[in-house]
Amino acid sequence: MAGMGEITSAARLRALPSLAGPLPGFDPDAAPADPDELFGHWLAEAVEAGVVEPHAMTLSTVDPTGRPSARVLILKYLVDGCWAFATGSGSRKGKELADTPWAALTFYWPAPGRQVRVRGAVSPASADESAADFLARSPGARGAGLVGNQSEPLSGLAERDRVLDDATGRAAADPGLVAPEWTVYRVVADEVEFWQGDERRRHVRLSYTRDGDGWVRRLLWP
Ligand SMILES: Cc1cc2nc3c(=O)[nH]c(=O)nc-3n(C[C@H](O)[C@H](O)[C@H](O)COP(=O)(O)O)c2cc1C
Repeated sequence: MAGMGEITSAARLRALPSLAGPLPGFDPDAAPADPDELFGHWLAEAVEAGVVEPHAMTLSTVDPTGRPSARVLILKYLVDGCWAFATGSGSRKGKELADTPWAALTFYWPAPGRQVRVRGAVSPASADESAADFLARSPGARGAGLVGNQSEPLSGLAERDRVLDDATGRAAADPGLVAPEWTVYRVVADEVEFWQGDERRRHVRLSYTRDGDGWVRRLLWP
């Protein structure tokens, strides 16, 4: 792979633009009292700006020694300060959350130069909710969920295809079949930060922290 060393050099990376704009700006004085509402506005604007997969977010968890691990997931819903995602409880993230039920979520939308950071306690939704989420998936996605080996070592792609074909067949034959490990998790946010990038590096950071039934808003130094 010619040039791979080059492209990762400090000089080549420095030459790649970041936050080049034009960026939309953000008036924190006009921000709503509830971060869910602001997230809704920003998500709608990301969709309008043509951001691909704007509902994709990085989920960060820690292992029992405090070592972090992060991966991209899809946001399932945001309701009443609960940010939901779905995955297998036996996966690496599932095990980490069983041990340390805290997580951070990070969204980044390049076109408007916006980042949203969420932190909070994590708990599984009810078995009924997880089952309903599972059953709403396509047969292929249900097949993948039925396998339930996420994050385990795999001997080769042929094994993947054999096991997935079998599981997808079972999912298609029995539309009511639910993977026992499939779990909707809810992050109950205690902090949500909205970050608006600025071409001149005068970024705006508005942090919401939970305070009883409401939220306290604060600006942060960029
Ligand atoms: C755009 C995108 C969306 C994804 N959505 C999900 C998801 O909703 N649930 C999931 O379990 N994995 C999803 N993945 C895969 C995860 O990033 C990850 O590889 C997998 O869940 C295993 O993570 P773990 O080993 O840390 O448990 C997605 C990956 C990408 C790139």
